[in-house]
Amino acid sequence: MNIEEIKEEYLSEIEKANSLDEVNEIKNKYLSKKGKVSELMGKMKDIVADKKASYGQAVNTLKTFISDHLDSIKDNLETKALNEKLERETIDVTMPGKNYSAATKHPLNKLVDDISEVFVGLGYKVAEGPEVEKDLYNFEMLNLPKDHPARDMQDTFYVDVNTLLRTHTSPVQARTMEASSKDEPIRIICPGKVFRKDDDATHSHQFMQMEGLVIGKNVTMSDLKGTLDYFMKQVFGQDKTIRFRSSYFPFTEPSVEVDVSCTSCGGKGCNLCKGSGWMEILGAGMVHPNVLRMSGFDPEVYQGFAFGIGLDRIIMLQYGIDDIKRIYTNDLRFLNQFRRD
Ligand code: DAH
Repeated sequence: MNIEEIKEEYLSEIEKANSLDEVNEIKNKYLSKKGKVSELMGKMKDIVADKKASYGQAVNTLKTFISDHLDSIKDNLETKALNEKLERETIDVTMPGKNYSAATKHPLNKLVDDISEVFVGLGYKVAEGPEVEKDLYNFEMLNLPKDHPARDMQDTFYVDVNTLLRTHTSPVQARTMEASSKDEPIRIICPGKVFRKDDDATHSHQFMQMEGLVIGKNVTMSDLKGTLDYFMKQVFGQDKTIRFRSSYFPFTEPSVEVDVSCTSCGGKGCNLCKGSGWMEILGAGMVHPNVLRMSGFDPEVYQGFAFGIGLDRIIMLQYGIDDIKRIYTNDLRFLNQFRRD
């Protein structure tokens, strides 16, 4: 084929090309080392001497023509592709957005946060302990040796003879005292899940407690009372009062049950407090000398107080929740009632 024929062939082929791939294929066919234009150059040796220069010039002109032409075709195709893409990806800013509903804090976690904030403000540290606990910490080091009758009240789920799901957050007391340097005072709170085999409307096999422990020199029962009074007022309102009723816990001596004036009627008596005017929400006392001794503290030198708050009970009373299981079943009909919006 001569120069003119090749140009014709190129033009008819490029006219049909409508993708970048096809254009590149054509470029290859004509302009690569073994392409048609190179072939034309190769024919130089057959051209008579005085035509060689004009022949070479004509092939070069064709080469430049095809190369420029291909560039402009490519440019056009790229612009077209880009425009199509932009067209496809146009965002309709007037379309309504997807509506995500933000969750709200679970009332139990809110209470944990509220109480923690008060105690952290008083210089307490937040401590943690394992939920699968050793009998040693859950019972023995709290003055509840094997066969102690008070263990019955807290019968639970055993993993093996010496390992169980903790029945209260009190083992964190023993762990903290044992691990302490013994020459610095201890001030901790420990919120956490606890487990018992109870099962009725006000008891669940899982519930939440908040433990508190203070150890130091000259710690007295009036410190306990002052601390609890301050805490109740901060969390439930300045008009609240507390009362101590004597009680028994193996790990404290003396031991008390602590009531706060009813958060609903303020003490007059109502449905929530069953007419008593008081809500029973925690157990407390002065740390038993045996407990101090077992964790390496000399009870002649150190004293302490401890308390354990039942958190589920508080929100059940505050919000009039009739069944503790509602707190744990993640039913949105229940949870949405605590939304702030
Ligand atoms: N551990 C007790 C319970 O679960 C509550 C308790 C009572 C904790 C008195 C204490 C305390 O720290 O001093 O019933």
